[in-house]
Amino acid sequence: MSHIRLTDAEDNIVDIANCRADFPALTQNVNGHPLVYLDSAASSQQPAIVIDTIAEYQRHDHANVHRGVHTLSHRATEAYEGARDRIRAFVNAASRREVVYTSGTTESINLVAQSFCRPTLKRGDKILITHLEHHSNIVPWQLVCEQTGAELLVAAIDQRGQVELDTLIAQLDENVKMLAMAHVSNALGTVLPVPDIIREARSRGIPVLLDGAQAVPHMPVDVQSLDCDFYAFSGHKMFGPTGMGILYGKEAHLEKMPPYQGGGDMILEVRFDGTTYNDLPYKFEAGTPNISGAVGLGAAVDYLQSLGMDRIAEYESELLAYLTGQLQTVDGIRLIGTAKQKASVQSFLLDDIHPHDLGTILDRQGVAVRTGHHCAMPVMDFYGIAGTARASLALYNNRQDVDALVDSLGRAKEIFSR
Ligand code: ALA
Repeated sequence: MSHIRLTDAEDNIVDIANCRADFPALTQNVNGHPLVYLDSAASSQQPAIVIDTIAEYQRHDHANVHRGVHTLSHRATEAYEGARDRIRAFVNAASRREVVYTSGTTESINLVAQSFCRPTLKRGDKILITHLEHHSNIVPWQLVCEQTGAELLVAAIDQRGQVELDTLIAQLDENVKMLAMAHVSNALGTVLPVPDIIREARSRGIPVLLDGAQAVPHMPVDVQSLDCDFYAFSGHKMFGPTGMGILYGKEAHLEKMPPYQGGGDMILEVRFDGTTYNDLPYKFEAGTPNISGAVGLGAAVDYLQSLGMDRIAEYESELLAYLTGQLQTVDGIRLIGTAKQKASVQSFLLDDIHPHDLGTILDRQGVAVRTGHHCAMPVMDFYGIAGTARASLALYNNRQDVDALVDSLGRAKEIFSR
């Protein structure tokens, strides 16, 4: 395993690409071709250190957390809580009390919708999202609007797939009780100008939730400097396990919010005439948690930090420019999502080939891309299309992957021109 420490910017491009060797899944052949994995926006592969850390935990240290005086329970608790400390540092939360374990971005957003918004929302109030959101940052808000009579507003986007900033700012009136938006769009890769938008929301006293699922694996994220109220992200898109995610929330908000679910571990005292809830963050962690998931996510964070998020961002930005440039050389390609600020994702269409057919032909050549609506149907509606093919990059991809994609697109054209 490489665990490379880089010495200068020149080495950066080469050495991060060497990290590919850390990912066992990437060494296989698929359909007789070396795997070219370009679907990390859906779920990233895991480095051996994450797989091994989880296996080691399961083999030797597993027991329930916060519940036993015996050695294994202590070990499990230490591993579980130690991971929380490392995740706190990774996103620079002010306190470990602000780092809530969830099952993923989706649960994190539902938690905020139900626990932060629902108790106070009423008819006439508004929730503002953007047209770029994926379903996990739409449907929880539709639900809470149905439950309370509040209204869901959508900030418009332009043809490049960028939020119309002036329009969004004009929508931020006193009735908006939450602004929820992606940090990076999953379908198009647009990086939203979140510092500017948060500043505007802040000046009007409007809380902001960022869906950071597609940002955290690709760029440094500092929740204090962003000054967002909530930040949601998932383990499995950042080289960790599935079923594991994080809700960062400002302590002042989390303190006031009622529990999201009831059960063990989120209580201090239970009597039939009333229950006292546990301290933060445990108030939001009912039941036996995903202990190995937390342990694995902690290992993923260590792995990312050993490489450096700045370096990863620089490497991927260069690779995305190469991907976009190479795709543009393919006759009949239509790029969907051409924002000025982008990260890790390029959606496209080729001639009139249906994206699913295209994805199937690419798969036969070992190239994995996601095809369809990418859980972002409103984005597809905006462009008047049913779906796209989407190539999404991570730190283990390289120029050879891009070249293999472009070659395979050529092959697809041949097949469809017969
Ligand atoms: N939101 C995930 C994706 O973009 C599932 O593929």
